[in-house]
Amino acid sequence: ETAEKAGFDHFMLKEIFEQPKAYRNTMMGRISDDGRSVELKEIGMTAEQIRGIRKVHIVACGTAFHAGLVGKTVIEDLARIPVETDVASEYRYRSPIITPDTLVIVVSQSGETADTLAALREAKRHGARVLAITNVVGSSVAREADDVIITQAGPEIAVASTKAYTSQLIAFYLLGLYLAQNVGTRDEAYVTDVLMAMNELPEQVERILDSADVLKQIAESVAKHNNLFFIGRGVDFAVAQEGSLKLKEISYIHSEAYPAGELKHGTLALIEEDIPVISVITQEGLYEKTLSNIKEVKARGAHVLALVNAGHEEEVGKSVDELFSIPKTLPILAPALSVVPLQLIAYYASLARGNDVDKPRNLAKSVTVE
Ligand code: G6P
Repeated sequence: ETAEKAGFDHFMLKEIFEQPKAYRNTMMGRISDDGRSVELKEIGMTAEQIRGIRKVHIVACGTAFHAGLVGKTVIEDLARIPVETDVASEYRYRSPIITPDTLVIVVSQSGETADTLAALREAKRHGARVLAITNVVGSSVAREADDVIITQAGPEIAVASTKAYTSQLIAFYLLGLYLAQNVGTRDEAYVTDVLMAMNELPEQVERILDSADVLKQIAESVAKHNNLFFIGRGVDFAVAQEGSLKLKEISYIHSEAYPAGELKHGTLALIEEDIPVISVITQEGLYEKTLSNIKEVKARGAHVLALVNAGHEEEVGKSVDELFSIPKTLPILAPALSVVPLQLIAYYASLARGNDVDKPRNLAKSVTVE
């Protein structure tokens, strides 16, 4: 096992550091040589079939569900097709409206999660086409779906998912662009811009990983608390939910992710002196709005850490206690960067509390029973 950890103390840390490679491998062979278009040869749908898709349902569990929340924004933004994202255990029993022109996307690292597999079968029973995003070739989900995008994250051992999640994000970016190319919602220049920005992501993640020590210090102060909040808007809220789950899974600290603008409708009552609030704030156009929410929690004594896009440190810095800067990218790609510091905070908080990082209590890597 020591050899498998390749010098890292835990599989989770090793897997966090493998993300730049996982990004490159998931993109490899899926972008045209001239860098102007996405080529998903594994998708058997014709352009006409793609143009016939009226809605998309994304269905998954746990961390894969959180990737699906980002996937919704990505597909709606790029291809302008309406998307609903559901937890598989809810979807399969809520009698969802699945029609033959619905594309159902199931997301599963293992490809074996019982509820996700059942949702896939339910979708097929209603005549929908099912596309799977999975990390395991030959898994049940991969075998039963009509189309499969394999994320090239490599085996993930730690129960808390990291590189599988970010590889799922890369798969959603590629899929969103591919659908957009076929539907005609985005021109070649736009697709080229996104692909160029995606190419920079692995190196940008490396830069975040270089600052692991700073995040370790932040995590050690987080670990002293029993409650905290994550806030964000849009895809920042999706990332906040994943950051909160990661922290809960391995540090056992109670946390809640909230849409920043919704705080005042209830959760604000829980803000008291010194409670940590981690704010993800990367979306152009939403800065002012989220900043005003940060001021609301600050006024009630919260200790605020902001994850902010490079270039906005000054503007945000005035209103927060601590700040971590994320390399600049396109707003839609920000989740692939902003989640990385949250993974490291969860890791170091778990370590500081003396927990078994790779095997948290009560949890399993793959849940194959209902
Ligand atoms: C378990 C794991 C999670 C994972 C979820 C879905 O709960 O502990 O890390 O996100 O299952 O797993 P899947 O393999 O379907 O992505």
